[in-house]
Amino acid sequence: MSIVDVIARKQAGQALTTDQIDEFVKGYTRGAIPDYQASALLMAIYFQGMSRRETVALVRAMIASGSRAIHKTVSSRKVDKHSTGGVGDKTSLIIAPVVASLGIPVPMISGRGLGHTGGTLDKLESIPGFTTSLSIEQFEKQVSEIGCAFIGQSGNIVPADKKLYALRDVTCTVRSIPLVTASILSKKAAEGVDALLLDVKFGSGAFFPDVADARKLAFNLVEIGTDLGLEIQALLTDMNQPLGYAVGNWLEVKESLDILSGKSGAADLIEISLAEAAKMLLLGGKASSYKEARRLAAETLESGAAFNKFIEIAQAQKAEVSYLINPSNYPESGFNRALTAKEDGYIEEIHALKVGQAGVKLGAGREQKEDTINYQAGFVFHRKRGDEVSRGEPVVTIYGSTETKVQQAASALSGAIQYSKTPPPDNPLIISEIDIDGETGWLK
Ligand code: URA
Repeated sequence: MSIVDVIARKQAGQALTTDQIDEFVKGYTRGAIPDYQASALLMAIYFQGMSRRETVALVRAMIASGSRAIHKTVSSRKVDKHSTGGVGDKTSLIIAPVVASLGIPVPMISGRGLGHTGGTLDKLESIPGFTTSLSIEQFEKQVSEIGCAFIGQSGNIVPADKKLYALRDVTCTVRSIPLVTASILSKKAAEGVDALLLDVKFGSGAFFPDVADARKLAFNLVEIGTDLGLEIQALLTDMNQPLGYAVGNWLEVKESLDILSGKSGAADLIEISLAEAAKMLLLGGKASSYKEARRLAAETLESGAAFNKFIEIAQAQKAEVSYLINPSNYPESGFNRALTAKEDGYIEEIHALKVGQAGVKLGAGREQKEDTINYQAGFVFHRKRGDEVSRGEPVVTIYGSTETKVQQAASALSGAIQYSKTPPPDNPLIISEIDIDGETGWLK
C-alpha cells in the first residue's frame, strides 16, 4: 500500500495495520517519506485518533528506529518519572538524586524546553560543563556505577521521535493523545526502565489544560505502557501556577539545590517532589507503604545524601561542580527588577501559561528552535497563590540581560498576577492517581 493510501485510510477514520505503521515510521525516519506526506498523516491521526493496538504498534516502531539501553549489569528494578511539561517544574533535578541515593537506579532521558514549558536538559546545561550527550554505553555505565544519568535524545535514541516531534511542532499536531503517548513512551522504553511514574499536568501551564483531557492522556499512557510491559502509574497534578518559586534555567537549578540540601522552600515543590519520589520508591520495591517511602525520601534531603548524589551525577557528566557547591559564584544576569503588589489582599492567580510565555520572551526559553538560551534569565516569585500581600511589597523579581527585556517581562507578568480581597479556595496540587485498575483520589 502506498503512503497516499495510508493517509487516505486514516483520513477516512479506518485503523492502520501494524505493517503500515512500521513502514511509515521506517520510511519517514530514513527520509524516504517526505515531510509533506508525513504531515498529512499526522494531521489525519490528530483528527481521527488511533486505537490502543495502533498506538502500541506506533510506539514499537518508534523504539525500533534506534538503540535501546539494556542495563545488563544492573539487577535492581529501574524506575523513572516523566512529567508532561509545565512551568517551573524542576522536580526531576530533585527526585532523581533522591531515589538514586536510596539504591533505586534512575535512567533518565529528558527533553528541552518546548513552547512555554521548560525542559530538564536546558536546566542541567545551565550548569557550566554539564553534558547530556552520552552514548548508550556511557549511559548504561553511569547508571550501573552511580545509579542515575541524565541524557538527551542524542545519537541514535528514538530518532523517529526526534524527527516526528520536530514536524509535529511546526504542523500544530503536538496535542494529540496517541502521538504524545507514543512520543513519551518510546523514549521511556528506550532508556530501559522497568517501571514509570507519570506526572500528567492539567491547568493553564499544561499541554492539556482541561482536566478531562489530561485524565484521558493519563489513562492512555497507563494502558499503552502496560501493553509494553512496564509497571506504570500516573498522578494528575495542578499546573495552574508555576511550581516552586523559580522559573528559568539556572534559577531553577539554584532552587533545586536548596531543596536537595534540606533548606526550606516552596511548599508545592517539596510536596510534589516527596510524593513522586515516594511513588518511585514503591515502584522500585524499596518500601512497603507510601508513608515509609516518603519518610525515606525526606531523610535523603535532611541527611545531604540526595545533594551528594546530585554532585556525583554532575561530576560524572563533566559539570563544574564548584557552582553547585557555591551557587553565588555563578555570573549574575545583567539586570533585575522587582515587581510589587498592586493592592492589599491575596494573590488569587499566577497564570502559569502567561508566566511561561513571558519567560520565553525574556530569553529563558526559545522562540525559534535555533535560539540560544540565556541561562540566568527568569523569575523568582516571593509570593504564591493564596499568600497575603500588602500593596508595594515585592511579589516577583525578574532577571534578564537588558533593561528593555526586563521591562517587557514586567508588563507581561503584571497581567499574569491577579489579586483578590479574600483568600482564594485551596486547590489540591495532586488530585488523583491512575493505574491499570483505574483512578483513585489522592488521600496521602
Ligand atoms: N513530551 C514529549 O516527549 N512528547 C510529546 O509529544 C509531548 C511532551
